[in-house]
Amino acid sequence: MDHVGITRDERIATITIDRQKKLNALNPEVIDELGEAFRSLENDDAIGAVILTGAGEKAFVAGADIGVLAEMDSLSGVEVSRQGQEVFRAIERSPKPVIAAVGGYALGGGCELALACHLRIASDNARFGLPEVGLGIIPGYGGTIRLARIVGLGRALELTLTGEMIGAEKAEAMGLVNAVVPQAELMDRARTMAGTIASKAPVALRMALESVYQALDTSTAEALRYESSLFGLLASTDDMKEGMAAFMEKRKADFKGS
Ligand code: COA
Repeated sequence: MDHVGITRDERIATITIDRQKKLNALNPEVIDELGEAFRSLENDDAIGAVILTGAGEKAFVAGADIGVLAEMDSLSGVEVSRQGQEVFRAIERSPKPVIAAVGGYALGGGCELALACHLRIASDNARFGLPEVGLGIIPGYGGTIRLARIVGLGRALELTLTGEMIGAEKAEAMGLVNAVVPQAELMDRARTMAGTIASKAPVALRMALESVYQALDTSTAEALRYESSLFGLLASTDDMKEGMAAFMEKRKADFKGS
C-alpha cells in the first residue's frame, strides 16, 4: 500500500495514514487502502487492539481531498460519500477496539474518521472541525450522524453549521475526545490505553462493541434482549472461566480468545 502502513507491537497494531504533503487528506486510493488495512486485521487473533493515526506532527487527516471533491458531479458525489461511509462503517464495526491518536488537524473527513473509531486521544495541538458547509457541501462520511451521538445534538449542530475549528481542550470538555496529552506523549498514551484493552478477554471486547453499536440501531427492548444473549454466550467461553478463576486466585488472567 502506498499511503497506509501497518506496524505491530505485541498485541497492538498501528495503522498510519501517510500522505504528508497533502496533510494526509483522503483520496479514493487512501480510503481503499484504509479499508484493506482494517480487513487484514479483522480475523487476526494475535491483535487485540488497533491504533489509527496520521503521519507527521501537523495533521491526523486534514479532510477528504478537496481536489477530488471539486471534480465530482451528482452521481460521482454519491459514490465518493458511499466509499468513505463503507470503510468508516467497517472501522466502527471492527471486532477489535480502535483508538484514534489525533495529532494536529482532524478536519472534515478526518474528524469523521476519528468519530468512526471507538476511542479518541488527542495531542494538545489537535484541531477538530467540520468545515464542509464553507465548501458548499455537508459531512458525507457519517459525520452528521456520529458527531451528535458522541457530543449531543446542540454541540454537533454548532460545529456542523459554523464550520469552526475547536482545540483539543474544548474537544475534551465536550466529550469529543477521551483524553488530551502533550504531542510528544500521544503515541505512548495511545499504546498504554491499547495495551490495557488488549490485555482483556478478546471475545468479551468484541461482544461489548457488538452490544453497544447494535443498540444504536434497535429499540431498547430488543437491545436489552440482545445484550442478554451476548452475556449468556460469554458464559460458554474459556476466557470467562479463566477471568473469574484468576480473580479468585488473585493472579493475572491469561486469556486465549476462546
Ligand atoms: N484536500 C486536499 N489538499 C489538502 C487538504 C485537503 N483537505 N488539506 C490540505 N491540503 C494540502 C494543501 O492544498 C497544501 O497543498 P500544496 O502544498 O500542494 O498547496 C498542503 O496540503 C499543505 O496545506 P496548507 O493549506 O498549505 O497548510 P496550512 O498550514 O496553511 O493550513 C489547513 C492547514 C488544514 C488549515 C488547510 O490546509 C485547510 O484548511 N485544509 C482544508 C481543510 C478542509 O476544509 N477539510 C475538509 C474537506 S471536506
